[in-house]
Formats: sequence, C-alpha cells, structure tokens
Amino acid sequence: MATVVLSLGGSLVNPGKPDRKYVAALAKILIAARHKFGIVVGGGKNARLVAEKVRLHGGSEYEADEAAIAWTKKNAKIAMHEINRAAGKDVASPIVPETFSEARQLSNKYKIVVMGGTIPGITTDTDAVLLAECLKAERVLNLSNVDGVYSDNPKKNPKAKKFGHMTYAQLIALAGKNDLRTAGTHFVFDFVACKLIARSKIEAHFVDGRKLDSVKKAIEGKPHTGTVIR
Ligand code: UTP
Repeated sequence: MATVVLSLGGSLVNPGKPDRKYVAALAKILIAARHKFGIVVGGGKNARLVAEKVRLHGGSEYEADEAAIAWTKKNAKIAMHEINRAAGKDVASPIVPETFSEARQLSNKYKIVVMGGTIPGITTDTDAVLLAECLKAERVLNLSNVDGVYSDNPKKNPKAKKFGHMTYAQLIALAGKNDLRTAGTHFVFDFVACKLIARSKIEAHFVDGRKLDSVKKAIEGKPHTGTVIR
C-alpha cells in the first residue's frame, strides 16, 4: 500500500481551539482511502503566541522554537484522537512518535501515524518531507488555509497569481525569498522542505485543507484546484 504524507496546518486542526469537526471530516477521507498516511501537524496560532511570549521574556530563538514544538505535539495528539474517534478504533497509532524512525516502526503496524515537530530551527513542513523520505512516500500534501502556491502573498497583493504546476527550482526560488527562519513566521513552504522534495523528487501538492474534494484528488495524485510540484 502506497504512503502519502500530509503536512497538516496547525491553523486547520487548532485555529485557537481544536476544530474537531474539521479533523473528523478529514479523517473520513483518510480512513476510506486505499493509502497509508504519515501526518505532521503544525503549531497554528497557539505556537505563534507562545513563541512570541518566550521572546518577550528574553528567551532565545531556540527556546521559542521549543515552546512552539510543544504545541505541534499537542495538536498532533488532538488529530490522532479525532481520527481514531471517527474510525471507532485505532487506525492511527495511539503513540505520537518523537522521531522519524519511531514513526517508521509504527507505520508498519498502523494505517496512519501522526506526529508533531522534532528539532528547533525547522518547521513541520520540513518534518513532513523528512517523514516522506523515511517512509518512502509516494507524495506529500501541504494542507493549509491557502489554496495553492502564489507568486506573492495573495492576502497582501491582489495581483498575486496562483500556479497550477511548478518545477522544484521555481518553488525553491519563491521559498528562498520568504525564508526568515524565526518561530511562528510564515513561509510559502519551508525553504529546507523545498530543497528536500527536490533532492528526493517527491511530488508535492498544495491544497486548501478545507476543500476536501481537492484533498481527496491530491491523495490520489489526480488534478485538483491547488498547485502541483513535480
Ligand atoms: P509550524 O510548522 O506550524 O510553523 O511550526 P509555521 O509554518 O510557522 O506555521 P503554520 O504552518 O503557518 O501554522 C510552528 C513553529 O514551531 C517550530 C518553529 O518555530 C515553527 O515556526 N518548529 C516546528 C520547530 O522549531 N521545529 C519543528 O520540527 C517544527
């Protein structure tokens, strides 16, 4: 059975408080799919707030990252519980792995493995691509509240154009322009994650996570309303 890895935005799972309804709807699709899944959940608003608090109290960027990672792990647990509740059994590993090799072991036993962040200095986008390499996944899906990759920030620039398809080189160039590398800042897709999908030639799909029809198509590698990188 082929594996698909999801980089699941924290803003979808926990926009301030857990969105259990959304996770349950997504879970239905994952449970019905003929794929296995590795999921890395982001930190969302709470991660950004806690990182800011650490900085205000004189904490280092390392400490801000550590605090943000804790939220990614909490969100991963929320997602795991909701998936298993929707399935009525443990389709997702009840243990949220801390490392990629632990995730690989659990993936031998469970259809779905959900985890959070790992080490400071990266984001869950990079974790998702590392997990995809580790699990030899067929493709990676970036599920967020943006419906694809744009030439510029669509919220700030109304002329920003959405890409249907992009090459790895085009994505790397775009992500490089937006890479500030501080906790809780927004990248198109983490620059390191872009370099990693390019080195392993992993097909990547950028989809609005709430457009469940597109999510379903992206899981199967079929055309959808988002952006495909290959
Ligand atoms: P996210 O992956 O959610 O970051 O991790 P993001 O891209 O800033 O947020 P979204 O996708 O828009 O919601 C939250 C923060 O946790 C730390 C980073 O500081 C990151 O910005 N983090 C996460 C790490 O340091 N290491 C990890 O492995 C994961």
